[in-house]
Amino acid sequence: MDLTRIHAIGLLLGAEEDWPHAFEAILRRVGEVTADHVTHSFTSERLTIEPFDLTDPVHSELVIDRLAHWYYHPREWLKKAALVNGTYLLNSPFTFQSMEKHSAYCAMLRLGLKVPRTVLVPYKNPVDNDRWAPTSAKYNLPFDLSSIAADLGYPLYMKPFDGGGWRGVSRIENEAELHRAYDESGEMLMHLQATVPHEKFARALSIGPETMVMDFRPDKPMHDRYAVSHDFLSPVAGERTVAISRIVNAFFGWEFNSAELLVQGDEVFPIDYANACPDVAVTSLHYYFPWAIKALVRWSVYCLVTGRKTKVDLQTERYFAIADDPGLDADAKLAAYLAIADEQFETERYWEWCASHLPHLDEQVLDWVTSTDFDRMLKDVVKATYPAHQQHEFLDHFHGLVDLWVIDEGARLRT
Ligand SMILES: Nc1ncnc2c1ncn2[C@@H]1O[C@H](COP(=O)(O)OP(=O)(O)OP(=O)(O)O)[C@@H](O)[C@H]1O
Ligand SMILES: [Mg+2]
Repeated sequence: MDLTRIHAIGLLLGAEEDWPHAFEAILRRVGEVTADHVTHSFTSERLTIEPFDLTDPVHSELVIDRLAHWYYHPREWLKKAALVNGTYLLNSPFTFQSMEKHSAYCAMLRLGLKVPRTVLVPYKNPVDNDRWAPTSAKYNLPFDLSSIAADLGYPLYMKPFDGGGWRGVSRIENEAELHRAYDESGEMLMHLQATVPHEKFARALSIGPETMVMDFRPDKPMHDRYAVSHDFLSPVAGERTVAISRIVNAFFGWEFNSAELLVQGDEVFPIDYANACPDVAVTSLHYYFPWAIKALVRWSVYCLVTGRKTKVDLQTERYFAIADDPGLDADAKLAAYLAIADEQFETERYWEWCASHLPHLDEQVLDWVTSTDFDRMLKDVVKATYPAHQQHEFLDHFHGLVDLWVIDEGARLRT
């Protein structure tokens, strides 16, 4: 006799409405999935976090989190869910809280990746605490900011060690700007970082074993930052970008993350790869939006049906053993790291499993993106995001880009 199981997916959301709506619509279209004589079905629920007892049960088996990076109460609820209830989390709050940009730089440096030269300097304004003055007199000696900067060379970047959202980031051209920016950094702990000359800025969004590398133009307004261009990197740089993104995620146990990499010819320099709450708005991803939400659904369904366990521990030493192997050159190391990452994400099994258990998903997503429901969602988002006199123009803009995806995807599915 066949068994049935219903899996609840929890969405822990901020103000966003677009991708959750898309996620729910596509999840409904997954329908039932049968594997090993068990019929699985899926529901999603938008979570609220009330006062909670540390032993309370958690109804959702898997939670996609968009809050823990910013807010403590949901973050602590997620930790309890991971430790007490075994809830599967995208992402683990443990590694995202402790492995901010600075730790990620250190770890990737240790693996031999091309992290730009970076120096951490003490706080400009130390924490307001009685014990600070006597304590700091012992360990926090005066230092020469100008000579550190001169050694790194101008222009350089000053940015918070934990990063995120362009907060406190400045490009510094000379010594006067250096001191002004440091004075303004106040109670933020800052990195000084050498500038990487680059031709391309790649932004790679990863969801489980899936990675989309996008041509990102940080100087443009939000709606125009992601260019739709498929061969903007050399094949070698493209492969390296995918590998580095996936390795970072596997190394830290992150499953829903974006990485920023500066690319010069075949060389790839990762500069930012700890984004616990990556941008997935339809108004910035447009063309890539259907892929992103499909991947979120696909990976969630895969994890639930195959009973994948949430991970709270890491495999750091395995990576370091490769880093320390004198018999391997840089490319061989990258390949060996990637093999661990693919093992962790079950990449091969994932794609085989999707092919046999979710053969209808591509058509369903294509159908949904051409439906009135998608249209309504896009209209609502544009209405909520732009002033009345620009709504028409932006609706056309995003429609044009999404329609381009519809054409490309239709062609891909027919071949
Ligand atoms: N070393 C560097 N060389 C060249 N450009 C850099 C460097 N570091 C930062 N930048 C530029 O500054 C921007 C912001 O830096 P970074 O990504 O490190 O900070 P952030 O606060 O995480 O910003 P966001 O959240 O918008 O990505 C980058 O997108 C890039 O355009
Ligand atoms: Mg960044």
